[in-house]
Order: sequence, then C-alpha cells, then structure tokens
Amino acid sequence: MKPTTTLNEPSFNPQTLDKYATLMALGNGYLGIRATHEESYSLQTRGMYLAGLYHRAGKRDVTELINLPDVVGMHIELDGVIFTLLSGDMMTWRRELAFSSGEVVRDVVWRAPNGRRYHIESRRFLSAAQKPLFAMRLAITPLDYDAHISLSTGIDATQTNSGRQHLDEVSLRVYDERFLQGVYGVQESDVKVAIGCHCALTNAVHRVRAVNRKLVQHAVSQVALGETLIVEKICWIEGHPDETPANIEQTSLHALKAAVAAGYDALLAVSCKALAQWWAQCRVTLDCDDIQDQRALDFALYHLHAMTPFHDERASIAAKGLTGEGYKGHIFWDTEIFLLPFYVYTQPEVARRLLRYRWHTLPGALEKARRCGYEGALFPWESARTGEEETPEFAAINIRTGERQRVASALAEHHLVADIAWAVLRYVHITADDAFLQGEGGELLYQTACFWLSRTTEVDDHLDIHDVIGPDEYTEHVNNNAFTNYMALYNVAGALKYCPRSLFSADFTARAARFIARLRLPEPDPNGVLPQDDSFFSKPFIDLRRYQAEPGKQTILLDYSRAEVNEMQVLKQADAVMLFYLQPWLFSEAVQESSLKWYLPRTIHDSSLSKTVHGIVAARCNLADMAYRFWREGCQIDLGDDPHSSDEGLHAAATGAIWLGVIEGFAGISVTDELCIAPRLPEGWRTLRFPLCYKGIRLTIALTRTHLEMTASAPLTFRLFDKAVSLTGQGRFAYQDFI
Ligand code: BGC
Repeated sequence: MKPTTTLNEPSFNPQTLDKYATLMALGNGYLGIRATHEESYSLQTRGMYLAGLYHRAGKRDVTELINLPDVVGMHIELDGVIFTLLSGDMMTWRRELAFSSGEVVRDVVWRAPNGRRYHIESRRFLSAAQKPLFAMRLAITPLDYDAHISLSTGIDATQTNSGRQHLDEVSLRVYDERFLQGVYGVQESDVKVAIGCHCALTNAVHRVRAVNRKLVQHAVSQVALGETLIVEKICWIEGHPDETPANIEQTSLHALKAAVAAGYDALLAVSCKALAQWWAQCRVTLDCDDIQDQRALDFALYHLHAMTPFHDERASIAAKGLTGEGYKGHIFWDTEIFLLPFYVYTQPEVARRLLRYRWHTLPGALEKARRCGYEGALFPWESARTGEEETPEFAAINIRTGERQRVASALAEHHLVADIAWAVLRYVHITADDAFLQGEGGELLYQTACFWLSRTTEVDDHLDIHDVIGPDEYTEHVNNNAFTNYMALYNVAGALKYCPRSLFSADFTARAARFIARLRLPEPDPNGVLPQDDSFFSKPFIDLRRYQAEPGKQTILLDYSRAEVNEMQVLKQADAVMLFYLQPWLFSEAVQESSLKWYLPRTIHDSSLSKTVHGIVAARCNLADMAYRFWREGCQIDLGDDPHSSDEGLHAAATGAIWLGVIEGFAGISVTDELCIAPRLPEGWRTLRFPLCYKGIRLTIALTRTHLEMTASAPLTFRLFDKAVSLTGQGRFAYQDFI
C-alpha cells in the first residue's frame, strides 16, 4: 500500500493555533486531545474529551462534553528564560501529524532573546491499542552553552469548558514520589475520572506539589552543551460514563506503571500496529496528479478513526468528534447520513453499534413524541448520552435588547426521524443483516414510522406535513418540505415492507397504507425543478454572490434577520439536492440536473454538509467538472486557508463526506437491489483503489479511466454501468464492454 501522507503546519502563527489544535488533534474514539503546544498561548484552547462523558453545569446551561483536566501543558525555562515562540527567533520549524502512526511531531531551533539557541523536539500520540494511554516525549539540546533547564508539568484541573466547571477534585496523590494521580468526580454523580501521569527526565531533581487544582511536578536539570535532556511523560486517563469501577485508583495506577516500564518507543510501536489494521481495512489510495487529494482522504480517515467510539455503543459521533467544544459534543443527523455509510461499507459491525446507540436512546425519543403529542419515536435534534433533547432552547443573545433567539430545530427539524430510518435500511441493504432487522433495527423502523403516521394534517383528502424545518435551516416552519415528505414516505414504506409483523399495532398496516397513498408529494414543475416546499417558489430571489464568496460564515445573517431570510429564496443547503443524494431513484437524471442548477444561485453553502453532497449529485448527472470542484471545496472545509474554520472543532460530517464523494460520486458505487458500479474518475486521477464490504463479501476495487479490477472473497453478481457481471475470485473488466 502507498504510504500515508502527513499533515504539516506551515509555520508558527498565533492566529491559527486553534485551527491546527483541531486539525492535528489526537484521538482513538475513547479520548480526544487537542494538539495544543506544550507552552501556553492565550490564543490556544486546550481540550481533552472522553467519549460519552457529559454533564450540565447549571440550570440554564445545556449538557456538554466535559473538557477534562489538562496533561499537555508544560512550563519550560531555559537558562532562566521562559520558552515561548512569541519571543526570540525561530530558526527552524517543522510540525507534522503522520496519519499512519498518529504521532504529532514538532521540531524547532529556537534562539532565546539572550541569543542562546536550543533544539527542541517534541512528540506525542494517543494509543490506538491501549485507549487510556497518552504519551509525550521532549528532547531539548542546548546548542551554544551548557544549560540550566527547568520544567513544570502535571495535571491541571483548572481547565473548564469556556468557564463552566464540571468536575470536583476527589483525591490527589503522589505515589513513589513520581506517579501523580488526580481523581475527579463529575458533579452530582458517582462517575469519576482517574488521571495519572509520570514524567521522567534524565538527570533531574524533582519536587511535586498540589495547589489550586493543579498537581505539578517541577524538575531542574543541568545539561551540557551538545547533550540532550529527554523528558518522557506517560499518562493514563480513565473514565467510564455510566459506572466507575470501585478500584479505579489502583487499576489505573497499575496500568500507568506498566506503561511507564515499557517506555515511549515500545508503546508507540504497539499503537502503530493497531492503527495499521485500521488503514488496511479502509485506506483509499489514489494515483493522481495532485497529492492534496490523497491527503484529504488520509486526513478524513485518520479523523474517522479518532472520533468513533468503537468501545461504547451508548456513545456516538459528535458533530465535532472529540476535537473541540463546538455544538457541546452533541450528536446530530450528521452521524447517520454522513458517517454511518462509511462504516456500513467498510466495517459493518461499527455501523451496527452506531445504530444501536439510537436504539438505546429510544425511550427518550418515545417520551419526546408523547410530550409533543405524537406517536412513535421523535428523536432529539441534538442528542448526548440519555436520549433526551439537548438542543439549547435559545441561541445567541441580542445584547442590545437582552432578547434571546429561540432555536427552532428541536421543535420542527423532524426529518432526523426519517434519516435514522434511512440509515437502518441502508445498513440492512448493504449488509443483509436480517437479525438486526428482526430486533433493534425493526424496532427503530417501526417506531419512526409510527411517528410519521401521527405527524400529518388532513387537507383536501391529502395528508400534508406542516410546520417543519428541512435540512435547509434558512427556511423554517414550512409545509410539505420535499425532503421531509419523501424521507417520511421511505420510512413508512420501509417499515411496512421489512419490519417483523409482531411489532405492528392492530391498525398499523391500514394506516401506513393510507399514509403512502395520500401523502402529499411535491412534484417537479414544468421546467423539471422540484419545489423545496409549498411556498419556496413564491418567495423573491436575491443575489447571493456576496455571501457565496464566504460559505460557512453565515454572513447573510449580518445583513438580514432570520425572519427576513425565511421569506426569500435563500438556502443554507439545498434540500432537493440532499434528497437526490439519499434517494437517487426517485427522479430522472434530467430532473436532478435541472433542479441542481436551479438551486445553485439560491444556495450559500453555509452548512458544511452542503458541498460534497452537491458534488455527488453532480457526478451522478455526469457534470464532471462541477463534481470535482464541489468535492475539492468540500475538502477545504477544515483543510482550507480560513484561519478560524475549525477553532471549535472539526466538521466531523465533512470527513465522512470526503470519503462519500469519492466512493459514491467518482467510483459511482450504489446499492439498491444489487451492488452497482459506475465509475467516473476526475481528470488527473489515474487509479482509485479501495476496499469495500458488501453482504459479508470483502472486495478490493481498483478503477482506472478505462478498467475495473476487482477481487471478491466469495462469488458475487453486480452491475457495471448497465450490465450484470458475475465474479469469482478476481476479474478485470473494460468499461466499454458494459456501457
Ligand atoms: C447544520 C446541520 C448540522 C449541524 C451540525 C448545522 O449548521 O445546518 O444540518 O446537523 O450544523 O453539524
């Protein structure tokens, strides 16, 4: 396999500290640690998060993913001068995240204001094999004179979520003068997090003290010119969101001691081995003109590994993964629509666990439906661990009037219910996991379908769905949103077809059949454009080019109120395009193309979910240039030049979308009744290789501009463009024979 690429931070720039802290964040699905520097900068936000560990700090706050005590920070003094890249000169600079090893390395030669130069190299990784294990290694070499080096580091529990503190100190201990341990309790609960660390320095004198929520080890060392001071800090960070084991202090201390005995290099080797398995399962490789395309794919897959809680099916993937406090660590439809397909096609057992997260939270969804006067399951728009609605009631405050803006999503963005059902059906179609359908999957399908049966309004012998917000959140409280209605139809029809009959209430079959027959379904107009909802066509058009130049920034809301935006043809993302992406079989290619083109001047792409989906639909319509342009722009959501695009964390869904754009867009993979492949590689791509899992059969697929090469672990029939192909073992096929 071609070696994975790296991500490089081009220079030290105080303005992009938070961007790179996110892009280079470490993660293993259990923990996420922002890639902040060892030394402090006022413009950098430290962060360490444990998947599924949430708490609500105050009555008027919302539940959020807890930012744990910091272990990364180090105060370093070199011959009495505080090490900071804001003073002195940086003579050389390299900072890099190697996707293959998950190791972040920084290598600088720094000249202090007093003229003395030091070579400082630091490395760190979060283990892919031992999830609570985090390790750092620093090497400091004086280049001009013998040096007196002092260093302070430990566990800093003054860290908060932007000022909100969720943890109480339960105990602070030092064992054998070297092993520091802080145990922190989540307020108003019995849940504890044990954080242990050990910091070894060559030839140093140590002192440890606890003060103001900090447990700190100070060390001083004399280092001769040309010699190197090695600092190895090994940490063991353990927490269990539901129940803390009684002896967590001892077991985690024991684990820390074993890790310290192994040492940084050996621990890294074990982690790399585990990570290699990940890459073998899902790496997508390109032979192409621009290395950035390969880098974007490696970046996406690295972060998919970092953000997915493989170990805990009561946790799911947050909108920012484990990389920041944005969206409070909540889970949205992003997971089912943008991230789950990757797992369905590469590691179906993980997709199943992600769906089981929703199944675990069904009681909350049933309760929300009940409270809102509906039947079945109404999943929370923003979800955390319990399945309760976590969407903040109010968004930003208008500080002139003191009024707060209400967030309408929890009240009306109901498409999420059908999105979850879509994900269940997708999982089942691609895996043929019938047992899941007989159990949790069937229950999810049925309860979501029941919701839609109760969500309609009878108008002129038709069933309307009134007062919803589609994925396009710039149009609120509309009737018969095309996305919502077609997705609801798919949900109810899917339940009727696939759910075990034993689940059905006495009248479900009749009500579902009536729903399917009478539901109002927006139809394309004479120009082949699918209306977004009942009122969209009647709203005035405005020129959006100014706002389209700055997608993702929501600058339109600086010029217009939300209510005004609601009354114009202004889209955050295009619902019709999103619908074509999820259900391409509904409309002809001509309708998809004319709708795509009609909505383009009306779409700002202020949602990070927008561009790649446009790219996939464009690819399916054979609009090759547009498809590639959108895909590239989708890759730039985090990787682009905007210095603040990712300050609050990564756009998790956008990483899934990078993969989807390649597999569903350019490779043209789709599954309806059978697996179909219709490749359309962008110019400049010579070969695209990837593994895929279909109905338990492991496939490796290599696409060139003219041929498909495929191996299959069992005999398989699939469709290449328009014709059926049977494959046993290995095969090579020329596209021209199948068109
Ligand atoms: C988008 C939603 C998305 C959320 C979290 C919002 O800006 O409009 O569709 O679920 O971000 O990523």
